Amino acid sequence: MSGTVRRSAIRGSGSALPEHKVTNAELATRVDTTDEWIVERTGIRARYIAGEGETTSSLATLAARRALDAAGIAAADIDLIILATATPDQTFPASATIVQHNLGCNGGIAFDIAAVCSGFLYALTTADALLRGGNARRALVIGAETFSRILDWEDRTTCVLFGDGAGAMVLEAIDVDPSDVNAPGIIASRLHADGAHNDLLYVDGGPSTTQTVGKLRMKGREVFRHAVVNLAGVLEEVLTEAGVTVEAIDWVVPHQANMRILDATARKLSLPPEKVIVTVDHHANTSAASVPLAYDEAVRDGRIKSGDLVMFEAMGGGFTWGAALARV
Ligand code: UT7
Repeated sequence: MSGTVRRSAIRGSGSALPEHKVTNAELATRVDTTDEWIVERTGIRARYIAGEGETTSSLATLAARRALDAAGIAAADIDLIILATATPDQTFPASATIVQHNLGCNGGIAFDIAAVCSGFLYALTTADALLRGGNARRALVIGAETFSRILDWEDRTTCVLFGDGAGAMVLEAIDVDPSDVNAPGIIASRLHADGAHNDLLYVDGGPSTTQTVGKLRMKGREVFRHAVVNLAGVLEEVLTEAGVTVEAIDWVVPHQANMRILDATARKLSLPPEKVIVTVDHHANTSAASVPLAYDEAVRDGRIKSGDLVMFEAMGGGFTWGAALARV
């Protein structure tokens, strides 16, 4: 079609959580912490922890199936799978290929992206570029993690903060009229990385160094400080790129690390807090899974509706950060 541009439309979403929910009170029996400290400093009240047999790929597969059902698209019609994860089932091959096999959609492209908590934004932007470039027509973009397996359960400064889970979206390449402001699809996105801050948030192991999986280490206060500045910056960039004001946004679906980061970022941008989707209280920080998990919850409970303008944003280890704006 002439006079049109190709966009990636979000056709459906799905999510999956492990069976076992762990409250702050339960954690307080294992490490020197309290429900009061965790709630006051983070907003977290509970998280889901993967049990035996629950893996990153099994949670990802379940979330992907639910997203395909919601989209009304068959697994056989998917020709691109990108799985954002920092906790893959194996060092290689990519867990995306395990999901591909589980779903029975062989052929096409499948790979993992490692950008930790901003992994879903990296995956979404990469999928969007591949769809717009004609490399694929229908994509599954998944964020899935089992961070409980890389936590130091003796370190109260980190083990209370994270949870496990998965979220997925189905994207489809469509042709839209560029002058139609209500046309669906991803409108703009921006990604960033700054490798100078490796020591503030990292895992102290890996195949090429220790030959162990390692444990998560974080200087939380430092990460917090960078997060608010970086997120406010990239959100402004995406708004400028899209030519949209902050008032036009219907919903913000942020990475869920800490309620105080969500509040501080919203304040910096003069965003009304009621437009921010919050799941950190019941999911904790699920790294790459948090954005699609939060999106799916808000779609299924009827808050996010077809036609809404939705901003996605995340910041994590690397540091990496990014944001994307879509009409859903
Ligand atoms: O998703 C990737 C990005 N990650 C993030 O965005 C995380 C960003 N950082 C944060 O969310 C916050 O910095 C934390 C929640 C990690 C920590 O909150 P904070 O207000 O920055 O606390 P803090 O690290 O400065 O620690 C304050 C006090 C310390 O005690 P002292 O030294 O003041 O005596 C800690 O030892 O709180 C103590 N503390 C705890 N106390 C009870 C740390 N963890 C705990 C705990 N229970 N679980």
